[in-house]
Amino acid sequence: MSPTPPPPPTGIGILGLGTIGTGTARVLADNGALIADRIGHPLRLVAAADLDPDRDRGVDLSSCLLTTHPERVVDHSDVAVVVELIGGTTLARDLVVRALSAGKSVVTANKALLAHHGDELTRLAAANGVALRFEAAVGGGIPIIKALTKGLIANRIEAVYGIVNGTCNYILTEMATTGAPFERVLAEASRLGYAEADPTFDIEGIDAAHKAAILARLAFDTPVDLAAIPVEGISKLASIDTDFARRLGYVVKLVAIAKRAGPRIDVRVHPTMLPEGHLLAKVDGVFNAVVVKGDAVGETLYYGAGAGAMPTASAVVADIAEVATALARGDVRAADPCAHRVVERRELLPLEEVETGYYLRFEVQDRPGVLSRISGVLGSHQISIAQVRQHGRDREGTVPLVILTHRAREGSVRAALVEIESLGVTEGAAVVVRVEG
Ligand code: HSE
Repeated sequence: MSPTPPPPPTGIGILGLGTIGTGTARVLADNGALIADRIGHPLRLVAAADLDPDRDRGVDLSSCLLTTHPERVVDHSDVAVVVELIGGTTLARDLVVRALSAGKSVVTANKALLAHHGDELTRLAAANGVALRFEAAVGGGIPIIKALTKGLIANRIEAVYGIVNGTCNYILTEMATTGAPFERVLAEASRLGYAEADPTFDIEGIDAAHKAAILARLAFDTPVDLAAIPVEGISKLASIDTDFARRLGYVVKLVAIAKRAGPRIDVRVHPTMLPEGHLLAKVDGVFNAVVVKGDAVGETLYYGAGAGAMPTASAVVADIAEVATALARGDVRAADPCAHRVVERRELLPLEEVETGYYLRFEVQDRPGVLSRISGVLGSHQISIAQVRQHGRDREGTVPLVILTHRAREGSVRAALVEIESLGVTEGAAVVVRVEG
């Protein structure tokens, strides 16, 4: 009897040899034998496209087709899994549509693409009997998509929230611990490959909102309108705020929140003050962490590197390996995290209806009666004060005044702030940070 021939390799095509694409090629090269052993057959990098294909990336790409034409990778007859690592929502979308329509499974790290076009692409994958996988789109190397869609499948998910932008977490950590200026820390995050091509996406919370939309969609089986998610970034914060927070027993983190609110869902992204004993308070630097609360399991925590070449490539290659396994079994739809999910539309809770605590920092005139006028306005809007702090004078005649409130309704706080500004005792707009936990 002749021995059974070894299963053929699964052909991989990579679109984009930037930070993550190069990391993916490196993991496939370094751990290829190990992965082949685990899944029962090899993965083979067949082709890769990049605007600069010949640049030395410190990884051996000599046995694969290198091209500047991404369509040639998608259309290559030996490519069964297309790995989209170009980013953006235009060319990337066209290429993903082309691949799915041609019956090829797609692995992507592109959170913007999924947040904007996830429903359309999920339907296209289903219609063509292929998988669309995106573990690397949220939390870098943390297998949070797998946890939500497989590990916690027995649960009704109550809440998903966490630190999902490594760049912001790196900046806030450095500001709080070294007092380094915002611009210098941001430049360092870009140099380390954490930041998006346009770092505004990071610091204005847009990247975190993309991830919140993906998590909310999976947690609550609903399409999420990205444009309706309230989003605030970290660019208005100063080290005086991280310093006040520390003195009050809190840390400031950019937190993405998605939780059930009756029949609706409360999804938002904003800087958040967390008590220093909170699960997420010690998550520093580029690290991400996501808490998922299920009705059966309770609270669970997922932690790891949220950005960077190799951690993100770890998630990309995990997806590739799972699709390759499903392909070898002849059931590639089994590898799609959205394959069997029923989708019903849930409305987003408007921000005015959210209730939380508030940190309010005013720059106020340092004279008698100012504090009582401000607190009077807060009281008239049913906002109860928990703590008040004031630093010494930092400019001619004005001082920073910080008020920490008990839980209050966002709509009331906004109305009170408008009234306080009209009193003529403050300078500029108040800095507002919501307090959770
Ligand atoms: N710019 C992103 C971050 C990369 O800083 O988290 C990972 O999605």
